[in-house]
Amino acid sequence: MTKIEETARNFDFHGEALDNVFEDYAKLRSGCPVGRSEKYGGFWFITKSEDIFAAEQNHETFGVAPSMMFPPVCDRPLPPIDVDQPEHTAYRRILLPLFTPKELKKMEQPIRQAAQEQAAMFMAKGSGADASYGYARPVPLQIFSALAGFPEEDWSKFDQWMDDILYERIENPEKSEKATAAVFAYFDNLLEEWVDDPESNTLIDYLCRAEIDGKRLTHDELLRYCYLIFLAGLDTTAWAIRAGIWHLARTPEDQQKLRDNPDLIPMACEEFLRCLSPVQAMARTCLKDTEVRGQKINEGERVLLVFGAGNRDEDVFPNPDKIDIEREENRHLGFGGGIHRCLGSNLGRRELVVGIEEFLNVVPEFTLADPDQKWHGVGPLNLNF
Ligand code: HEM
Repeated sequence: MTKIEETARNFDFHGEALDNVFEDYAKLRSGCPVGRSEKYGGFWFITKSEDIFAAEQNHETFGVAPSMMFPPVCDRPLPPIDVDQPEHTAYRRILLPLFTPKELKKMEQPIRQAAQEQAAMFMAKGSGADASYGYARPVPLQIFSALAGFPEEDWSKFDQWMDDILYERIENPEKSEKATAAVFAYFDNLLEEWVDDPESNTLIDYLCRAEIDGKRLTHDELLRYCYLIFLAGLDTTAWAIRAGIWHLARTPEDQQKLRDNPDLIPMACEEFLRCLSPVQAMARTCLKDTEVRGQKINEGERVLLVFGAGNRDEDVFPNPDKIDIEREENRHLGFGGGIHRCLGSNLGRRELVVGIEEFLNVVPEFTLADPDQKWHGVGPLNLNF
């Protein structure tokens, strides 16, 4: 077996594989841009940006059921992310009103306030403090949980549930399943207690009031939708903020540049989303036999769209592995691309930009306490300042 065949066959993107995954991406893009890994029961992968965008657009060939997350985080499809057309549109439409520019504008002040409060608390802990669980996680937790209508007294339970579901599911599936069951039980209770208060307009209110073809969602549909937004709205944004801080902590010249020119922060954040994407890959299922770059893929086979690899594609991004905080052309796949493109992208983006702005405003020059600290969003991120 050649080296590249071996890399393809063993290609993985979870757990420790994530530590050095960018090297594999580069090898695969040049030597095996569409290939097959034998992990997790076998799956095809697509690594070139152009091919990923094409698959995203072609939802008649690349469906999402039974699960976009691979391996799945639930044994039942989660709306809207795991639902194919035509049902998908109706599910997605329910939450659109919450993410309009007008609604986002209303969030501006709460986002800034949350970031300022959390940055002050982080500072109070002193040099060596953890910017992951002590800043990157609590900012979206505070913002998104309020928007969603998750009661504040429950927030302290969320970190552990998220970590167990997302980061234990490969090594320790039982722990992950237990956390999934706990989250379902939590929402079961929350939905049972829901009262239709016309003054309240949280995300849960929108879901509970929604009708598709004149009928409200069933209790089970609501549970699955709540579980999805719990995972989608919290960990992704926290990961992005953490990754941005990680880069700035190990690149003092970029940190100084953003302190001197805060107007560059939104551009820098797009680069963090490109190079250090919270969602490295999402799966599809082939709905009919097809071919990508000459590679035949059969109906029913699972296909991984490796956003993280497409985001470092040399055919699209000059010097692709460099985090260039002033990169102007930046059509990345951090939020996906087709009909399932991230619903909360504008909110996530705003939380990231304001999160970085306020961190730089409040925390003086900082560096990594452990210079070997990994890039990804798993575990603590201790900083010296
Ligand atoms: C920086 C933060 C975020 C990142 C990087 C991110 C990334 C993604 C990605 C890659 C997808 C899949 C797109 C595809 O396969 O085409 C997705 C879907 C989704 N995201 Fe996000 N996301 C973020 C924040 C949020 C937030 C704050 C919410 C709030 C509700 C959210 C809700 C969703 C939903 C509901 C979907 C499924 C959309 C559909 O199936 O139509 N995301 N996100």
